Amino acid sequence: MKLVKTRDGSFTVYNENAGEHYHTISGAIEEAFEKHVNALGIEDGMYILDFCFGLGYNSIAACKDHSNLHIIALENDIEIIKTMKNIEIPEILSVEFDFFRNIVDSLDVTDSHNNRIQILLGDALQKIDKLPSMYFDRVFFDPFSPKKQPEMWSEDIFQKIYNKMKKGAKLSTYSCAKWIRKNMVSAGFKVIDGPIIGRKSPATIGVKK
Ligand SMILES: C[S@@+](CC[C@H](N)C(=O)[O-])C[C@H]1O[C@@H](n2cnc3c(N)ncnc32)[C@H](O)[C@@H]1O
Repeated sequence: MKLVKTRDGSFTVYNENAGEHYHTISGAIEEAFEKHVNALGIEDGMYILDFCFGLGYNSIAACKDHSNLHIIALENDIEIIKTMKNIEIPEILSVEFDFFRNIVDSLDVTDSHNNRIQILLGDALQKIDKLPSMYFDRVFFDPFSPKKQPEMWSEDIFQKIYNKMKKGAKLSTYSCAKWIRKNMVSAGFKVIDGPIIGRKSPATIGVKK
């Protein structure tokens, strides 16, 4: 795992197989807050699906200033979860991160505000089938890029996720590619622009109608 410092002082990882960083180098933790957590709006007690947990920035950013969240996170690489143990975290998320940095030991941790993160280790494309229907209020959709992992961005996967969400629930993702948005719309989502952070084009928010 090659750690790379991003411009907000937080670290990302460069994945040699994917040939990609896990986050934008303009700011990994800023991305978690701006493209996912703040873009969707989180309320206490929500059920959240973190589709590709990685270093857990999206899930842990959601826990900041919230309570009673139940987050189910999908991830297939135990090594990236191990990396959390010793990674340096900027002050903005350090207290919250410390609750969860050893999550690789049990894959299920609850912090002092009763926010629970439960990781289901394995292929997200299969694990998704095991989750309850009409259950999630928010989804952080954060796989590697459509170029590297087109199978993650198919209409079929968006449809499966859609079925797991409650009516009015929202999904965030960093891509705004036309064919991705088309797949989202075919799956039933209303698609709107998300924030523009660290790149020229907007992120995408999908709302279950
Ligand atoms: C862009 S990174 C996610 C970054 C993460 N959301 C964070 O806040 O650190 C993509 C993640 O997807 C994981 N991944 C790739 N293919 C997967 C699959 N088929 N099932 C589950 N996770 C997968 C990778 O191991 C990697 O951690």
